[in-house]
Amino acid sequence: MIKKAIIPAAGYGTRSLPVTKVIPKEMFPIHNKPSIQYVVEEAVSAGIEQILMIVSRSKNLIVDYFDDSLELEMFLQKANKSSLMNKVKLPDIQIFYTRQSFARGLGHAVRLGKEFAGNDPFAVLLPDDLIVGKGIKDLMEVYDQKKSHVLGLTEVETERLQNYGVVEGRRVQEDLYSIVDVVEKPKQNPPSNLAVIGRYVFTPDIMDVLEKVAPDSGGEIQLTDGIKKILDRDKCYGKIISGQRFDIGSETDYLALQNMIYHQKKKS
Ligand code: G1P
Repeated sequence: MIKKAIIPAAGYGTRSLPVTKVIPKEMFPIHNKPSIQYVVEEAVSAGIEQILMIVSRSKNLIVDYFDDSLELEMFLQKANKSSLMNKVKLPDIQIFYTRQSFARGLGHAVRLGKEFAGNDPFAVLLPDDLIVGKGIKDLMEVYDQKKSHVLGLTEVETERLQNYGVVEGRRVQEDLYSIVDVVEKPKQNPPSNLAVIGRYVFTPDIMDVLEKVAPDSGGEIQLTDGIKKILDRDKCYGKIISGQRFDIGSETDYLALQNMIYHQKKKS
């Protein structure tokens, strides 16, 4: 059973500049909650019990947000505003933090969780990707059967494949692939139309592998390079997630998700 998750939230959010100079993209509101809260709730509802968030010095707002607001809670209690008390209630989960002092890539961020993971398998959820549906639980179910690494996949239009890791896989079941290769952001000839979305399950072996991954030309340690290396020794599966995925770094997706959640809330 997977009980631990790593949420890397240390990136610069360059796609959404200039607002990300001061507001982390993870704090962008969707209805009245920051986007990262949806990701934490997805983990909690999948049965995750401990989260490690990888933050950076400009992400203190995230740490503040997931702290109790005692003064506000006391005020609401005194003012008898119990319905508002419910709104400030946080997801019931233990969150640890560590700082990535310098943006050195997703692979490096995940590797910072080595001690946290210890000998346990763990999930990784990238807060750029929001999933309306089961999300990480889909992958955890595959892990329970296969006891090996699992990547979240979704079909993407050809023009957008260059923004993602793209897999080559052998279909083993409906919506389940055995991964043969993965190419990070292919400029041409993508191996398929299946993009890696920001949901992964790894055995702790990925940590040792990531330690051996050399930085790319931009000085970043890519998680995809770690996955490529692990394919030489372990099985790795790709699961097409059952829900709908929104990449909130893309303005179109962000607005579409806002719209969807707004209409859902209006109905309920
Ligand atoms: C990262 C991964 C990429 C994956 C994507 C999913 O890219 O490197 O393989 O497809 O997340 O969102 P990034 O969005 O950090 O550039």
